[in-house]
Amino acid sequence: MWRLWLLPLGLVYGHACPQKCTCEQAGSVQCFRVQAVPPGLQRDVRSLKLPYNHIKEIKVIYCCLSLICMSDFSMLMELEDISLASCGIETVEVGAFGLQRSLRSLDLQKNKLRQVPRGLPAGLETLRLGHNRIHSLQESTFEGLRRLRVLELHNNLISSLRGNSLSPLVRLDRLYLDANRMEAVQGTLRLPQLHLLSMESNKISSLSSAFFALLQSLRTLRLSGNLLARVPHDLPQGLLHLNLDHNQIRALRSRDMAQLRNLSVLSVSNNRLASVDGGLRLPNLTVLEMPGNNLRALPSRLAPRLERLDCGQNGLQEVGHQHLSAMRHLKHLFLENNTIKHFEGHALRSCFQLTNLALEQNHLSTVPEGLPETLVRLDLKLNRIAAVGEKELRGLKRLQVLNLRNNRLTTLGLPALLHLPRLRRLYLDQNPWNCSCELLRVKRTLLARGVDVAGELCHGPGHAPGGGWRASLLEQDRCEDHIREAAEREQLQVTDIEEDYDYGV
Ligand SMILES: *[C@@H]1O[C@H](CO)[C@@H](O)[C@H](O)[C@H]1NC(C)=O
Ligand SMILES: *[C@@H]1O[C@H](CO)[C@@H](O)[C@H](O)[C@H]1NC(C)=O
Ligand SMILES: *[C@@H]1O[C@H](CO)[C@@H](O)[C@H](O)[C@H]1NC(C)=O
Ligand SMILES: *[C@@H]1O[C@H](CO)[C@@H](O)[C@H](O)[C@H]1NC(C)=O
Repeated sequence: MWRLWLLPLGLVYGHACPQKCTCEQAGSVQCFRVQAVPPGLQRDVRSLKLPYNHIKEIKVIYCCLSLICMSDFSMLMELEDISLASCGIETVEVGAFGLQRSLRSLDLQKNKLRQVPRGLPAGLETLRLGHNRIHSLQESTFEGLRRLRVLELHNNLISSLRGNSLSPLVRLDRLYLDANRMEAVQGTLRLPQLHLLSMESNKISSLSSAFFALLQSLRTLRLSGNLLARVPHDLPQGLLHLNLDHNQIRALRSRDMAQLRNLSVLSVSNNRLASVDGGLRLPNLTVLEMPGNNLRALPSRLAPRLERLDCGQNGLQEVGHQHLSAMRHLKHLFLENNTIKHFEGHALRSCFQLTNLALEQNHLSTVPEGLPETLVRLDLKLNRIAAVGEKELRGLKRLQVLNLRNNRLTTLGLPALLHLPRLRRLYLDQNPWNCSCELLRVKRTLLARGVDVAGELCHGPGHAPGGGWRASLLEQDRCEDHIREAAEREQLQVTDIEEDYDYGV
C-alpha cells in the first residue's frame, strides 16, 4: 500500500521515480523487490541502493571493440555509489561497471560471488566484498584500482595470499581479510599507504619478516584467532595497535618487539604466555592486555607509560612492589581470577594514579594494606577474607565502590567503613554473617549515609531460631536499644574521624 505514496514523492523533485523505488533529493535512489536495475531511472542518479533484492547476475549486454561494454548500469554514468548487498549475486561480468567513471563506492557484500569482479572503474575508492565465496586472489585481480582505499574481503574462502596480488593497490588504506581460510601468506605485501590490516580468524601459523617489509604506514595490525606460536618478526616500526589475542604465543620477548617504539595498545589475551621479558622497552605502550594466559608472576619493569594492565585469569600467586614499581601512570589494574594469596603491603605505592583495582576470584584472606588513595573501585569478591580492619581501609578517601561479596566475613566494624567518605556502593551479600544487632546497626548507618548496600545480609535482626514471633519481637526491641546506645556512645568518636577528611575534594 505504502509504495503508492512514493511515486508522487519522486515527482515533487521533478524526477519520475520508477515503481518500487524511492527517490530522494541529491540523486539518491533505493529500490525494493526488483530483479534488475529498474528502467526509467534518471540519468543523473548518483547513489543507487538495491540491497536485499534478487539479482543473480550483473550482465554485460554487449561490448564494442571489447573496450566499451554496456550493462544495465550503463545509462547511469553519474553513479558514485552502488549498493548491491544481499542480492544473491553469483557473477558480475567483466566491464559491467566500465562506464561509471565517477564510481567511488561499490558494495557487493553478502552475495554468492566466487571471484573478485574484474574491470572495475579505476576511480573506485571503497570495495565491499565481505561474506561471499571468493576463494582466491589472482595476480591481475586488482589491476588498475590505483585509487582504492578500502577493501573488504572478510568472511570468504580465501586460502592463500600472495603479496604481489595486491600490488596494484598503491593507495590502499584499510584491508580486511578476517574469517577466511588463510594458512599461508607468501611474499611481500607492497602497500605503502596501508594503515590497517585485519586478518583475524584465519589459520596463519607464521608470517615471514619479508611479509611486512613494505608496509611502512601500517598503524593497526589485527591477527587474533590464528595459530601463531610467536610474535612475528620485524613488525612495522610505526605500529600503534597490535592485536594477537587467541593465538598460541608462549613468550613476549624484547628482541621481537623492541622496534615498536610507538606501540600504544598491545593485546595478547588468551594465548599461552608463560613469560614476558622485563622492560619490554615499549616506551609508548599505554594498554597491555594479557588475560587468559599462563603467567605465574607479574612481569616486572613493564612499559613506564602503561595506563591499563590486564593480567586476569592467569596463574599469579603474589603481587609485590618490585613488579609494579615503575608504573606511575597506571589507572586500571586487573588481576581477577588468579590464585593470589600474598599481596605485599604498599605494593602499589608507586601507582599514583590507580583508580580501578580488580582482585576478585583470588585466594586473599585479608584486604591488601596500603592501597593507593586514588582508588575509586575495589573488587574483592570471591576471596577468603574473614575480617576487614580499619588499618586496611584507612586512607581510601576516594573509594566509591567496594565489593566484598562472597567472602568469609561474619562481622563488620563500623569504624573501618567510616574511613571511606566517598563510598557509594557496598556489596556484602553471600558472606556467613553473624546476624547480630551490631551488623544491623552497621547497615543502617551506611544506608543513612547514602551508601547503597547491595543484597540482603540477614533476614531480620538477630536470629532467634525456634523462638517464635514473641522471641523475635523481643529480639527486635533489644536491637533497637543496642543501636540507640551504640549511636550515642560513638557520637563523639565518629565526629573525630570525620573531621579528618575533606569532603569537598
Ligand atoms: C612514531 O611517532 C612519531 C610521532 O607521532 C612519528 O614522528 C614517528 O615517525 C613515528 N615512528 C615511526 C617509525 O613511524
Ligand atoms: C613515543 O615516545 C617518544 C618519546 O619516548 C615520543 O617522542 C613519540 O612522539 C612517541 N610516539 C607517539 C606516537 O606518541
Ligand atoms: C577463571 O580462569 C580459569 C582459567 O584460569 C577459567 O577457566 C575460568 O573460566 C575463569 N573464570 C571466570 C569466571 O572468568
Ligand atoms: C555473634 O555476635 C554476637 C554479638 O556481637 C556475639 O556475642 C556472638 O558470639 C557472635 N557469634 C559468632 C558465632 O561469632
